[in-house]
This record gives sequence, structure tokens and C-alpha cells, in this order.
Amino acid sequence: MNIHEQKNFKKLPESYWLASTLTTNYPALNEDIDVDLVIIGGGLVGITCAYLLEKEGLSIAVLEASSICNGTTAHTTAKITSQHGLIYNKIQNSMGKELAQQYAEANELAIEEIKKISEENDIDCDYIPQSAFIYTQDENYIQKIESEVETASNLGINASYVENIPFDIDIKGAVQFHNQAQFHPRKYVLGLAKAIYNNNVNIFENTRAMDIEKDENYIVITDKGKKVRAKNIIIASHYPFYNKHGGYFTRIYPEKSYIVGIKAKEKYPGGMYINAEDPARSLRHQSTDDGELILVVGEHHKTGQSEDTNKHYQALLDFANTLFTVEDVPYRWSTQDCMTLDGVPYVGNFTSNTPNMYIAKGFGKWGMTNSMVSAMILRDLIIEGKNPWQDIYNPSRKTIVASAKNFVVENFNVAEQLIEGKLESLPKNIDIEPGEGRILKVDGERLGAYRDEDGTLHLVNTTCPHMGCELNWNSAERSWDCPCHGSRFSYDGNTIVEGPAVEPLRAGKDVNTIEKLFKDDF
Ligand code: FES
Repeated sequence: MNIHEQKNFKKLPESYWLASTLTTNYPALNEDIDVDLVIIGGGLVGITCAYLLEKEGLSIAVLEASSICNGTTAHTTAKITSQHGLIYNKIQNSMGKELAQQYAEANELAIEEIKKISEENDIDCDYIPQSAFIYTQDENYIQKIESEVETASNLGINASYVENIPFDIDIKGAVQFHNQAQFHPRKYVLGLAKAIYNNNVNIFENTRAMDIEKDENYIVITDKGKKVRAKNIIIASHYPFYNKHGGYFTRIYPEKSYIVGIKAKEKYPGGMYINAEDPARSLRHQSTDDGELILVVGEHHKTGQSEDTNKHYQALLDFANTLFTVEDVPYRWSTQDCMTLDGVPYVGNFTSNTPNMYIAKGFGKWGMTNSMVSAMILRDLIIEGKNPWQDIYNPSRKTIVASAKNFVVENFNVAEQLIEGKLESLPKNIDIEPGEGRILKVDGERLGAYRDEDGTLHLVNTTCPHMGCELNWNSAERSWDCPCHGSRFSYDGNTIVEGPAVEPLRAGKDVNTIEKLFKDDF
């Protein structure tokens, strides 16, 4: 089956998690307020932090730029697992057993906590216990898998080595983590938000944080000019928009991956799977009102650095065709993850010089348990000043030095984007079909052009308002994507699809002038 033959292919990609839940309608902030804690970002981390800290008696405001649980959490695979690739060997070898132990304990406990919270609050979120597997088809990985089983077991995780998984894949070996789980992430977050929305927790949607000032408290300035004053602040937005301290823009890079939700003739055998090698392939299933949906996931690349984003959906469908008789592809969507330099998230004090300012960021592709862990760490840091796992997650950890080589490489790559985007040679013609986006060069200026299905041409200035990198066109999602820190904009530049940018794109030249100019030229 070819993705282009799919009746759903003409539609823009759509996440099943969003399609199967209602949109929320929390008010925007329309006055200045004072609270104990302001949380920027209404995803899984922000709402879970609000949940745990409301129980400690804090008054809380959650500020969400669009609507809650609309970003990463609504586009994830939603595996609740302490199995984050072959991470335990990696942490133990680079940071030592003690920190590996912290990571294992935190994420194992997070699995139980999510279950407990959903039960205590009566949240019907399709929580199902599952095993999680990492398999390999490459003999070079067998020893790594065996070693991961041993390390994880020594750290207290219920892990075992298996030689088969229930798919027609010629595997060389796999590690199985027992007592893991899956759920519907948006049902969970919306249920939790409903449970905490009361006099002590206010949730404000369509309220973008634009800047943070400081006197004896923090003052968050919103896009509508309103102020939230608070002693404590948690930055839990997708990518930190706040650049004044911490240098996070040099040590987090965005990466995209893709999901196709298929209907198959065969019944899914249960379990959650991912391979150890590239290209990444991951599997889970989900019961829906319309039968079983199988999620096939993978194909990662840095944001803004893929020539044809549609080809990634086709690659996943090709893989699905080898395992199942695919009957339909009702959903497909992409996700954007923030990656850290050593693969461990940054959770804790924003910097050592910014007391009462906290961050939870950089979950890679493993945001479910790491979000729960973040909320537990930040609760403890705010209430007690310490947490048993604070060292492994410390954003200023010394071991980040061990990743110095990656640090330089990633930065160099980002810097290259800044320069190359400005210099690349650009097509000159304006021969753009409806539904097509292109980069143009007009009078020496780089412009992004998109012609909509009605034939209207939309022009944007392709310089990212965050820090000046040059945007590229994302054909699958019809957006302008920034290769540096992952800001994304709608085709007309007016909507910020993803931050850290807090301003929309500047308009390109006047459309009539451009069309005339090209008519004259060609
Ligand atoms: Fe930072 Fe574009 S997101 S320059």
C-alpha cells in the first residue's frame, strides 16, 4: 500500500489523541494576578506539577500559549515505560552506578504514580499494563542487549532477555521490561486538569508568556500585557523561550519523528516494541471506538532538515506492510522532541543563580515517565529543597561535561544552519502549484512562498524571529520549520505552531508586487 493511495493522505496529518478528545476551553488571562507558583506550559509536565503542588497548598497559575495538552503530549506514542532505549548501560558507564540507580528508581516509581493518580481521580485514560521490548536484527547489538538486561536487573528493574517477539521479524535478541504500561495521554491530562481546576489552580489558555522580569518575585509578562507575579516559576513549555540565563538554546536540539496509525487485518499481539538500531521502528496498539489502531513510529531527523517530510510516512507504511495486512491508515502525525546532550532530561533549578526558577525539559522520546519524575522532583525542590534523584537530572550537572564533544558538534551544526540558511542559492521562479511551498529569492531577499488550494499565494519572511536562523518548508505539515531550535509557523506565518519563538513571522513582500515581478521576468 502506498501512502498517496490513501483517502486520508489529502488531509493534513492528524493525531489520534487529539481527534478522539474534546478541545478545552479555559479562559485567557485578562487581569494581573499574584500566586505562589506560575507554571509556563500546560502539557503533561505542567499539569502534573500543578496537581502535586496544589496538594501542598500552593496557589497556582498555569499559562498555556494555545490550549492545554495540544503539543508534544498530544503527539507522543504514550508508552509509560522506564525503558528508554539502551539507557542504563549508557548512564552507568558515563556517570556511574549511583546516578543510573537514581534514573531507574525514579522512572519505575513514575509508572506506579501515573496509575495511582488516574485511579484516585477516576480518570478513564485507557491505562493498560504492557511489557516493553527493545529488539535487534543486528548481531553487533546482541552483546549490548545482554548487557542492558544485566545492568537494568542489577538496578532493580524486572528485565529479561528473550529470543523471540510475536512478529515476522528476524530478530537476534531482545530485552523485555515487565510491568510497564500504555495509556491515552490526552484523556489522562484533560482528566487531571479537570480535577485540579479550582480556586487554588487557575489554568489560562491562549495566554503566551513573552518575558520574565524579577524584583523580589518573578513577573511573567503575557502577550496581552497582563502580569503574573509569583515567588516560584516552573518553565515547562516545549522549548525554553527564556534566553537570559542557562544557555539552553545551545544544549537542547529538536528532533522530529513520525507516526502512522493503521488498521490491519491481523490482531495486534500485545506489547510495546522498539528496535535498537537505525532506522528506528516502534510499535504499540490502541483500542478505539472504531476497532484496533496500531501505531507504527520512527524515522527521526532534526527539525527543519528533511527535504521531503512525506517520505517518512511512506517509510513507516512500508515497514507496516511487512508485518500486517494494512487495510486503512486513518491517522498519521509527527512529533517534535527536545533532545539533550547526554540523553538525560534537564530537571531542577533553571541555573544555580536563579533561585525559585525551575525547568523540566529535554525528555527525548521518553516523556511519559520523565514528566511524572519531573513533577515529583520539582515538588520536592520547591517544598523541601531536595529530592533523591536531583543529581542525575540536575540541569547544571558536572557530567554534562562528558558530553562536551556532542555539545560542540550540535552547536556547530546549529551555527551552520544560521549561516547556510542565509547563503544557500535559491530557486528564482514562482511556478508554485496549489498545496506547494517553496523558498524564493526576490531582490536578494529570501522569501517563503506557499500557494493554498484556492490559488492564493502566501509570502513570509523566512528569518526566524527567535534567533535569526532561516526556516525551511515542511511539506507534510505545511509549516515553516526552524532547524535551530524547532520553532514552527503556519504557512501564512501568522500562527506559532511550536516555540520557542514568541512572535509570528514577518510578512514577505506584497504578493501582487511579487507576482507581477515574476511575470515580468519570465
Ligand atoms: Fe531559535 Fe529559530 S527557533 S532561531
